[in-house]
Amino acid sequence: MTARIIDGKALAREVEAQARARSEALASRPGGRRPGLAVVLVGEDPASCVYVKNKTRACERAGVISTEYRLPADTTEKELLELIEKLNNDPAVDGILVQLPLPKQINPDAVILSISPEKDVDGFHMLSAGALLTGRRDRGYRPCTPAGVMKLIEASGVNPEGLEAVVIGRSNIVGKPQAVMLLDAHATVTVVHSRTTNLADITRRADILVCAAGRPKMVKGDMVKPGAVVIDVGIHRDENGKLCGDVDQASVEPVAGALTPVPGGVGPMTIAMLIDNTVLAAERHLA
Ligand code: GUN
Repeated sequence: MTARIIDGKALAREVEAQARARSEALASRPGGRRPGLAVVLVGEDPASCVYVKNKTRACERAGVISTEYRLPADTTEKELLELIEKLNNDPAVDGILVQLPLPKQINPDAVILSISPEKDVDGFHMLSAGALLTGRRDRGYRPCTPAGVMKLIEASGVNPEGLEAVVIGRSNIVGKPQAVMLLDAHATVTVVHSRTTNLADITRRADILVCAAGRPKMVKGDMVKPGAVVIDVGIHRDENGKLCGDVDQASVEPVAGALTPVPGGVGPMTIAMLIDNTVLAAERHLA
């Protein structure tokens, strides 16, 4: 068998096109307007600059008005919190995204909590986390990466109901919310992590394997059940400077049934779901 490669970029363009139609519908209502996203970047981390540029371009494709706020690396936490307060009170701003990581003088938890839960389009606020955990789809926003992973699984043609899903990684941004979303889709879910002893025994049971460990090429072919759907959340540079994920694509591709590439898999879907959340925020604010 050789895995079908799931085209995350094409799927992201579809999600953006649907977002564009909703954005245009909002703009053509009496008293309506286009959705607005504020993107805040502190410092000049090269990877963050690339992410922010990609987010801005996706906003243009989807008819979302994005405004970038670039602050110097020595910005204080107080200054950043003041900007967020201003954006919280700006009626043209539906969503606020503060690009992570932040410089070390700024506490990211304080920043995430300061964003109005109504504008938390990254889905990192504890209200969004609580809404997800308690099944309140009318409140909060779903974190973009795991929400995009669910769409990629759907695109693979596999329905998670009754299947074994294994998530590698337990971060607040991916692993934990991913487990909840898979549970909501009626999968039997196991989360494994760096302290798990018999990792490969567990991953080999997975019909759906979501790899968000943050370790380059750690998932090898002998850790994968034949025919499984494998989703690669990682993004790293390998020893030759080439982009790679958490999955060793060379050994996994012959075993898996479907596989997301890096780049062109989860990355573009994360951005598309950010746009989706921003349009949803505008729909709520204009309701
Ligand atoms: N840094 C890396 N990924 C993300 C993301 O999804 N959102 C934010 N705000 N920062 C990030």
